[in-house]
Amino acid sequence: MILLLLGPPGAGKGTQCERLMLEYKLVQLSTGDMLRAEVKSGSELGKKAKAIMGTGKLIPDEVVIEMISDAIDLQKDANGIILDGFPRTKSQASSLDDMLLSKGLYMNHVIQLDVDDNKILKRLSGRFACANCGAGYHDIYNKPINEEKCDKCGSTSFSRRSDDKLEVVQERLKEYQAQTLPILPFYRQKGVLQLIDGSKSVEEVYEQITNIIG
Ligand code: AP5
Ligand code: MG
Repeated sequence: MILLLLGPPGAGKGTQCERLMLEYKLVQLSTGDMLRAEVKSGSELGKKAKAIMGTGKLIPDEVVIEMISDAIDLQKDANGIILDGFPRTKSQASSLDDMLLSKGLYMNHVIQLDVDDNKILKRLSGRFACANCGAGYHDIYNKPINEEKCDKCGSTSFSRRSDDKLEVVQERLKEYQAQTLPILPFYRQKGVLQLIDGSKSVEEVYEQITNIIG
């Protein structure tokens, strides 16, 4: 199964992936996570990506298209794939379509998480993650059971994303409106697009997703 989670920054794509991976044994392919790994490694690509991501703008299409194509090839034995954060331009969507066709795959579901801007700002200003395993948390909505320790791996080290600063989030939201929303008609026409209310609790959003994917 190939599932695409679409939604503005902070909509909860990563949060829902964590649970879908566990319960459906799906693999998450997040271009944002891949780019952050490049930044961390200090590679040439990472240096270029860091400068762009710090402004809230998108990385050039050809870079992320190659990245995702290679990542899909590595998942031949997976139960299914969740695409998180790709595609987010018309050109990426059309390349993905060609790519899947050439690999003998097809998109089963595109789920758009709808969340208003005020809620997004609240979610992103309180977001943090385990610095060891990447598990995502929130200061108010999604705290670790023991506040000092990650629920998943027990690490006591946490980090916050530098692009969650207010001015960068505002730019990311603009990019979503200008570049990503225009790809929705493409998937609507294919009959695979479903809109869900992403402003509900993590549990309720998960339920809406599982109702769709079965
Ligand atoms: P990326 O990493 O993809 O970021 P994003 O799309 O902006 O989305 P986020 O990861 O910020 O949000 P999310 O939806 O995963 O929310 P989360 O689950 O964490 O991209 C980063 C950058 O990389 C881009 O700006 C761009 O520069 C570059 N890039 C990446 N892909 C690219 C591409 N394809 N093309 C070009 N450039 C690309 O949740 C947020 C918070 O809310 C958490 O604290 C969570 O605990 C909490 N929360 C989640 N759900 C709920 C809920 N239902 N109720 C209450 N709280 C909740
Ligand atoms: Mg994410």
